Amino acid sequence: MSTTATEPAEGPSKVDLGEQGSAGEIESFEVTLKVRRYLPETTEDSYWDEWRVTMYGTDRVLDALHKVKWELDGTLSFRRSCAHGICGSDAMRINGRNRLACKTLLKDLDLSKPILVEPIKGLPVEKDLIVDMDPFFQSYREIMPFLINKGPEPTKERLQSAEDRERFDDTTKCILCAACTSSCPVFWTDGQYFGPAAIVNAHRFIFDSRDDAGDLRLEILNDKEGVWRCRTTFNCTEACPRGLQVTKAIAEVKQAVLAGSF
Ligand code: SF4
Ligand code: FES
Repeated sequence: MSTTATEPAEGPSKVDLGEQGSAGEIESFEVTLKVRRYLPETTEDSYWDEWRVTMYGTDRVLDALHKVKWELDGTLSFRRSCAHGICGSDAMRINGRNRLACKTLLKDLDLSKPILVEPIKGLPVEKDLIVDMDPFFQSYREIMPFLINKGPEPTKERLQSAEDRERFDDTTKCILCAACTSSCPVFWTDGQYFGPAAIVNAHRFIFDSRDDAGDLRLEILNDKEGVWRCRTTFNCTEACPRGLQVTKAIAEVKQAVLAGSF
């Protein structure tokens, strides 16, 4: 059973945003932000730290983290870059679910309780919400996430039909945030499994009609740490902030391995 499916659903927002816009004012409210912290230079163990902050109806969890960092405690550490759901750098566990902090509106959470923010699971924590992404990107590198074409260099672009392009359209949308891989109980066990994100990115090239190395990628994913470790828990699909059909992509790669060709 999916672990995320057993978590209590967020209750309705406790924030009455009133008649916004008419007076040009945005309603403010108090939020308790509770962050799982780890400061290796001062403490051996992680601990919870919390702050009460005034936020607004348009604010996201990332805005609350910024408020704490910029106004209350500059030592709070987390990754972010684009702040708009594109770079994939701010995946974290928010109220027990993997999400992007920049895509999670505070008003959509149950603000009658503290908002719990923790680092994603299964990767070593370096500081506060920052994890070591090297194991994640190592798996990504191993599936060769680039076009390999053994034919002669074309003088123009490599043409592809709309139907052929559609075959891997969903998996082109991955932003490598690791929300899927770090929500996978198989990945949590030993971190050896390639993980959903690597398989999604292999899918993107395996099913690309212009690529010639699909068989090689399928061979790599037929490894004991490859697609067969997937237990179809659907955690990955539920966690993906881009709405990718992650489990479906893994199933298609499994079928391609079984078929011995794509
Ligand atoms: S498949 Fe979705 S959750 Fe996984 S890394 Fe890509 S964007 Fe993130
Ligand atoms: S900061 Fe770039 S995806 Fe959230």
